[in-house]
Amino acid sequence: MTCIELMVDEHKKVIRMLAVIRRLCGRVLNNEAVDYGDFFVIVDFIRNYTDKHHHGKEEAMLFARMMEELGPTAEKIIRHGMLVEHEFGRLYVKELEDAVRRVLEGDMDARLDVIANATSYTHLLARHIDKEDNVIYKYGQNNLSKETMDRLERECDAFEQTAAESKTQDKYLNILKELEAKYIA
Ligand SMILES: [Fe+2]
Ligand SMILES: [Fe+2]
Repeated sequence: MTCIELMVDEHKKVIRMLAVIRRLCGRVLNNEAVDYGDFFVIVDFIRNYTDKHHHGKEEAMLFARMMEELGPTAEKIIRHGMLVEHEFGRLYVKELEDAVRRVLEGDMDARLDVIANATSYTHLLARHIDKEDNVIYKYGQNNLSKETMDRLERECDAFEQTAAESKTQDKYLNILKELEAKYIA
């Protein structure tokens, strides 16, 4: 699997987690029993898998190379588009975490902030991933030099190897499967 194929595959896992988030928000909305601790598990997945593991590769490898090599239009799209959206995602997740804490402290109005931030995050990421899969990754793949693509593969392999040593990929895939079994099945 190439680095770009791997990142497209990671998007599929991220999208599966977005479905879990939406289902959990539905429970909050309908006043059903909710294990609010699961939101913290989701926040861990988002921060360490979606952001650190997946966006980490985009930011340090593919997008960095595209900004260096593909001129001002590519730089503008990445810096003011993709990277800004990564930042918005971080903000929603921070606000989600704060809102879950407030609910657990007894502030039931904060359920609205849980739903608002969690669903806003899902909409943002779904649009973001669609752009990456259909435009940004393809643009990078079609326009970066062969040497740069080779370098990307080497860096990506080393990154994956290091993550595998601390079982990052397995850990977060298991978390995803557990939450799907609880909320989607
Ligand atoms: Fe991204
Ligand atoms: Fe991505």
